[in-house]
Amino acid sequence: MSATAPTHDHGHGPELAGGKRDFLKLVASAGAVIAIGAIAWPLIDSMNPAADVLALSSIEVDLTPIVAGSGITVAWRGKPVFVRHRTDKEIKEAQDVPLGQLIEPEADSARVKAGHDQWIIVIGICTHLGCIPLGNKPTDPRGDWGGWFCPCHGSQYDTSGRVRHGPAPLNLTLPPYAFETDTKIKVG
Ligand code: FES
Repeated sequence: MSATAPTHDHGHGPELAGGKRDFLKLVASAGAVIAIGAIAWPLIDSMNPAADVLALSSIEVDLTPIVAGSGITVAWRGKPVFVRHRTDKEIKEAQDVPLGQLIEPEADSARVKAGHDQWIIVIGICTHLGCIPLGNKPTDPRGDWGGWFCPCHGSQYDTSGRVRHGPAPLNLTLPPYAFETDTKIKVG
């Protein structure tokens, strides 16, 4: 249909312009959804009742059900904490990487407890914009370094929780924790 043909647009402008507006609206709302997804955790975090969060200022985690090669997520002070049981291969990979290859150089030995290096425990919040990375389940995408993969913008972490591919600028944060026994930790 030419631009001069009669139309029934009732004053809303040519159809093409209307379609373009709809498309722009769709793009804008898709962007809004992505933005909401990226900040979902901090928002949910801030909506938690303070009393509940404070009541969980420390938690105990039983390590016995976590098989080598997998991890679990526990909630601590309103944050997800990844507790992952590393295989011998994953430990060796984390220990052997030259520190010069790291975005935030940190030895694996500084990120685990001595004598318990099969366990890596990190706060599960991407250091880019706060999404929760994937990788605890062996079937999850774990990225090229076998640790965690953040689906929001593609950051990747190794089996020590160190960032290996941005845009995340920093390693996953370590929560305060201690081993109470060989099979139980206290976080917080
Ligand atoms: S939030 Fe952007 S890569 Fe994780």
